[in-house]
Amino acid sequence: MAKIIITGGETLDGEVQISGAKNAVLPILCATLLADSPISIGNVPHLHDVTTTMELLGALGVNLTVDEKLTITVEPTAMVETIAPYELVKTMRASILVLGPLLARHGHAEVSLPGGCAIGSRPVDQHIRGLQALGADVVVENGFVKARADKGLRGGHYSFDMATVTGTENVLMAAALARGTTVLDNCAEEPEIVDLANCLIAMGAKIEGAGTARIVVEGVDTLHGCHYDVMPDRIETGTFLVAGAMTGGRVLARRTRADLLDVVLQKLEEAGAQINTGPDFIELNMHGKRPKAVSLTTAPFPAFPTDMQAQFAAMNCMASGVGVIRETIFENRFMHMNELQRLGADIQIEGNMAVIRGVERLTGAPIMATDLRASASLVLAGLVAEGETTVDRIYHIDRGYENIEEKLGGLGAKIRRVAS
Ligand code: EPU
Repeated sequence: MAKIIITGGETLDGEVQISGAKNAVLPILCATLLADSPISIGNVPHLHDVTTTMELLGALGVNLTVDEKLTITVEPTAMVETIAPYELVKTMRASILVLGPLLARHGHAEVSLPGGCAIGSRPVDQHIRGLQALGADVVVENGFVKARADKGLRGGHYSFDMATVTGTENVLMAAALARGTTVLDNCAEEPEIVDLANCLIAMGAKIEGAGTARIVVEGVDTLHGCHYDVMPDRIETGTFLVAGAMTGGRVLARRTRADLLDVVLQKLEEAGAQINTGPDFIELNMHGKRPKAVSLTTAPFPAFPTDMQAQFAAMNCMASGVGVIRETIFENRFMHMNELQRLGADIQIEGNMAVIRGVERLTGAPIMATDLRASASLVLAGLVAEGETTVDRIYHIDRGYENIEEKLGGLGAKIRRVAS
């Protein structure tokens, strides 16, 4: 199993190109199932989750081609398989995103229940209820969500019990091809939902309000092909900026958007960073200073993202002062804390709250990645820990970060991957 080995202590200084957003490209790839003509998707990040989604679409009978720039062209066919098997779904929860499109376009779909994962139980009841509001018959049987709409979906009203990102996306995609008007309330407002809606609009969908709590969709009969470039990854951007902050350095993130990261940038400024932004870049400069610990509470967009919680936890471990972190989205998203303690961090956990007292120095040790963002936080901690840190099980990181060791290496980090 591959490992990442980091020798801590280097101050990062340089530029990094941000890749396309994982959590936007995955729903957009699934949305191609709705189209009746070829779609090409650009700015696709080279990630394991993208490969898994392509395998899933391939298993459903869709033809995909990839060019040297990683632009993916999807050629929908009239005859598709409508069963998404457990073997593919279990490795990536986002596979549930084929449910809405398959049902809307083909009148039936069977998608294996994704089950829980390392960060929490993650049910899909809201996806199911939303589709039922559009007239689908849905049963959960033998580990599969089985959905039918023999006469096609019709517009309806659904108010989500909680803001769910993929839940909103699944029902939005289904509503695009439902007959009549759909009104969705208490929707998640994440920018990736806006990106998906923009792609659907480019395919001919009629959608208003994406990025707000109420989305209104006027169903259309067919959706056509288009070219769509995926938005930049705000979490990758934030991760590199935190790396800059922790090492007292300067990081210029290019091909990204500051408006996607308002709260994260605010917290970095609170930590003592100087932030300078332009239309497609964010520059962070710590001028050699040690960051100050910050307190934060994760919540749905536009509040502080749960996907940046672990990285800020790593920063607090070596910052001056005490930071209190509250995780309100997932019930088990503190697994990085134990590993950070192995590097010498002072962390006390009470329920969903972690009180982190910054220490003068972390020291390198073998540690283990447990999920995607946890892995990123361990790599960040390794950048400042004295001596060598070995992060095991880094396949987690390859799910969501494109060439992280090359990109950090380009900023001056001493980091390498070994096959083990
Ligand atoms: N929830 C339910 N029922 C549902 C759906 C969600 O109870 O039917 C609960 C969840 O258990 C959770 C909360 O609602 O407590 C919010 O979960 P959400 O559905 O928004 O999460 P998700 O759509 O499964 C996406 C991202 C995650 C990110 C979360 C929160 C994708 C592919 N995944 O997951 O990304 O953490 O939103 O922003 O978009 C990551 O990239 O590392 C990652 C985990």
